[in-house]
Amino acid sequence: MAATLASTVAAPPSASAAAGKAAAVNCKKVKCIALTFDDGPSPYTGALLDTLRSNKVKVTFFVVGRQVEKRPSVVRRMVREGHEVGNHTWDHTRLTDALDGEIVSELSSTQEAVHEAAGIRPKLMRPPFGATDQRVRAAVQTAGLPLVLWTGSTRDWELRNTKAITRKALSLVRPNGVILMHDIVPETVKAMPGILSELRKRDYHVVTVSSVLGDRKLEAGEQYPS
Ligand code: NI
Repeated sequence: MAATLASTVAAPPSASAAAGKAAAVNCKKVKCIALTFDDGPSPYTGALLDTLRSNKVKVTFFVVGRQVEKRPSVVRRMVREGHEVGNHTWDHTRLTDALDGEIVSELSSTQEAVHEAAGIRPKLMRPPFGATDQRVRAAVQTAGLPLVLWTGSTRDWELRNTKAITRKALSLVRPNGVILMHDIVPETVKAMPGILSELRKRDYHVVTVSSVLGDRKLEAGEQYPS
């Protein structure tokens, strides 16, 4: 029963994920920016996915396991539409305050929740609050994942204003940057059509973190950008 369910869930997303990859741009040759959305899936994530689809862009979502369990169909849709899904722990735990064993279980439970929802296992993780140290990196290495931080944070959860978030996001843009935003902030979701249209004017390709990395393979426990 479990095996049958897993294979039914797995087949469609992996097929379209491959299609998404085929369309990937070469970020060594064109200007790329990776937009990343943390802490969801939330009640606003569906609207964000609509905007991303109509603009034909792929992004990276760092999802919280507890939220994945509440909204598995949204995570399934992320994968089906070619977005990248990363692990943001089960409980949005500050890992520098957690025991090694807790770090590993925060990550593995989220890996399993994403797999159950969408048939894939994340290949990247982002530590909540960007809180890492040598011990956290070692525990994350045990869980088999690299750590992805950001080159610019919109601080959208603090701004809570569509115009201010738009201005801040655009000020952070630079080739192969990784921008931190949140799909739990409705003003961010509202700002996206304007941000995407401006990025298009500036000749930027909006891509996943893995597209920015290109051939570069991150090791388990490695932190990017370092
Ligand atoms: Ni977060």
